[in-house]
Amino acid sequence: MNKVLLYCRPGFEKECAAEISAKATEREIFGFARVKDDSGYVLYECYQQEDAEKLIQTLPFSELIFARQMLVVGELLRDLPQEDRISPIVGMLTGVVEKGGDLRVEVPDTNQAKELTKFCRKLTVPLRASLRESKILLNYESPKRPVVHVFFIAPGTCYVGYSLPENNSPFYMGIPRLKFPSDAPSRSTLKLEEAFHVFIPADEWEERLGSGMYAVDLGACPGGWTYQLVKHSMWVYAVDNGPMAPSLMDTGQVTHCREDGFKYRPARSNISWLVCDMVENQCAWPV
Ligand SMILES: C[S@@+](CC[C@H](N)C(=O)[O-])C[C@H]1O[C@@H](n2cnc3c(N)ncnc32)[C@H](O)[C@@H]1O
Repeated sequence: MNKVLLYCRPGFEKECAAEISAKATEREIFGFARVKDDSGYVLYECYQQEDAEKLIQTLPFSELIFARQMLVVGELLRDLPQEDRISPIVGMLTGVVEKGGDLRVEVPDTNQAKELTKFCRKLTVPLRASLRESKILLNYESPKRPVVHVFFIAPGTCYVGYSLPENNSPFYMGIPRLKFPSDAPSRSTLKLEEAFHVFIPADEWEERLGSGMYAVDLGACPGGWTYQLVKHSMWVYAVDNGPMAPSLMDTGQVTHCREDGFKYRPARSNISWLVCDMVENQCAWPV
């Protein structure tokens, strides 16, 4: 298997590809990235067979900004026969993974691929049984052994491979399952919450997301990201000309600055957090 597969947020494939290419080159692992816009994943194809494994061993997953998951995969399996989709998948893993600790049958984070999730759930149980029978998976789940991934990009079409438990995302599809807080002013609140979960180790939350810190939120309205900062008991300068959710203003923790975020300069120097959700070429703002 000579490819490293990276899951990413749809729309960020180019950034993800640039990042993996730079990190691989730093390690003298040569290859090229295959990118399909809005697909939700990137493939980095190594020129040397063994380099894919070397890359996932030596590149700390936590260093990657745009990748949600990192694994080694083989050639794309196409046209899996409807009467037996399992044998080709087992065949692909035979001699590659032994005594794996977990199985995840996944899809890219796109609306089109999400239609396959029901099928993925159905396939998981019989596939797990076959993988156990073939000793590719242990008979019990183990967080210390490689994770087997089957990644369906279309019906009957999937990549098959594995990630390393000490250097991967622990989340299914690489996405923490977060519940939308009903009192948050916008769904984008979950983006910042996901970033906190992914980039800040749990034992550092108290120190790095501590109460009483000062934060600046550029392009803050209606306040989904400010909501997260307020939830961590921070004082927030919310910079935006738009309307902030009154519920946030009522907390007394938010100062609404109706200014251009590209020109804003905080009055104080002890700002611990700066978050920015402005679109650079948004025309509502005078240039
Ligand atoms: C995607 S929305 C932000 C959503 C917000 N993060 C939330 O969670 O509710 C982008 C915001 O950026 C603001 N914006 C765009 N250009 C700006 C600028 N130059 N200065 C300040 N805000 C700007 C827009 O008014 C808009 O409210």
